[in-house]
Amino acid sequence: MNTFPNDFLWGGAIAANQVEGAYLEDGKGLSTSDVQPKGVFGDVVERVAGDSSLKDIAIDFYHRYPEDIALFAEMGFSCLRVSIAWTRIFPNGDETTPNEAGLAFYDKLFDEMISKGMTPLVTLSHYEMPWGLVKGYGGWGSRQTIAFFERYARTVFERYKNKVKLWLTFNEINMSLHAPMTGVGLPGNSSKGEIFQAIHHQLVASALAVRACHDIIPDAKIGNMILGGLMYPLSCKPEDVLETLQQNRTWQFFGDVQCRGEYPGYMRRFFRENGINLEITDADRDALRTTIDFISFSYYMTGCVTTDEELNQKARGNILSMVPNPHLASSEWGWQIDPIGLRTLLNVMWDRWQKPLFIVENGLGAKDKPQADGTINDDYRISYLNDHLIQVREAIEDGVEIMGYTSWGPIDLVSASKAEISKRYGFIYVDRDDAGNGTLARSRKKSFWWYKDVIASKGASL
Ligand code: BG6
Repeated sequence: MNTFPNDFLWGGAIAANQVEGAYLEDGKGLSTSDVQPKGVFGDVVERVAGDSSLKDIAIDFYHRYPEDIALFAEMGFSCLRVSIAWTRIFPNGDETTPNEAGLAFYDKLFDEMISKGMTPLVTLSHYEMPWGLVKGYGGWGSRQTIAFFERYARTVFERYKNKVKLWLTFNEINMSLHAPMTGVGLPGNSSKGEIFQAIHHQLVASALAVRACHDIIPDAKIGNMILGGLMYPLSCKPEDVLETLQQNRTWQFFGDVQCRGEYPGYMRRFFRENGINLEITDADRDALRTTIDFISFSYYMTGCVTTDEELNQKARGNILSMVPNPHLASSEWGWQIDPIGLRTLLNVMWDRWQKPLFIVENGLGAKDKPQADGTINDDYRISYLNDHLIQVREAIEDGVEIMGYTSWGPIDLVSASKAEISKRYGFIYVDRDDAGNGTLARSRKKSFWWYKDVIASKGASL
């Protein structure tokens, strides 16, 4: 049985707003996530003192990170993906001086990870931006936000240049098309033109962050992050195949710009035919020419595309709505389970972009039921992850260059789409429920031991 390469990075991925809590501690400002207590599709609720959201405490990682990192180390993680909460560093987003207490927190966090043998993989913006920039400037709709983001990126690159050598710019940047408040800080009723202009500003900001990273940390690598929403045609009807090509381009477009340094022809046609006139300056074009070093992506499911109106009944999975595939089973949340799709997606991305790939999210959200003695036998999670990792190994055999695999939510956390904790992804159980009750105590699930074996055997135990 083939094993994974020796330098393959193994670990897990978490995001600040879904684990840290401490949402106003040590000078942190409000983020868009803080004003969306019901998740990325939920309404914006302006916070007043005393309001509460599950994310306010989340799993209290802000205070308990040493214990959690020790548990990750016990599983043998060589990598941990985390994000920095922009609002811990620049609480309103437009300050000229960063918040030292916020910077100090991430110093401690990275030191802890490194001391336990984990390479930090750090996302600059994971589904959140300062609420102050949304209220004061219109979020990514404003060109000014580019400069605020660049200042933030330069600040953290300077501060952590000796500790962090792997960076990502925006989490699932293509989600801006589907959940504009979370992605670009725009209201849900924004026009396509407004959303694409905001996305343009974000793409320029991403490229400027890549440039800054290369300047400040020459031995670092910086990638993008895409929701890998692979679509299949529901039939072999040529119209369905063509429509599937177009649907796949809704995520490929971001990677095309970030890898090739310019807008592809199919997007120029789309803008032309939809009356969208983006403001793109010469400086923007120049910035976009700075391309990423690697591609990172999340993978949970695939979906189908049809041009037949009657068959076109979409179900929401993650942040995308897709026509279900009759050949696949679904999770309790209706997300279709497709391990082979991961191998296909890895090959599609590799063939298209020829840059190293990093799977930075993959996992199964499920309800866990602790037994009377407290044990949790999450065989469903083991089976999901096992089947997906076998396909990763197949893709490596296909010749795809893969840097690593960080499963989503190695410890239970608050879900993004609906802000629930009952949807659990972890190898580690957290005693907390959707009403916020529980001790926050951590315990190991059956999958904890399974993942430890996978890592120790470099995949031979799969
Ligand atoms: C990805 C996000 O879309 O999917 C994560 O990057 C998110 O933040 C994950 O948590 C799973 O989605 P959910 O809604 O089950 O938390």
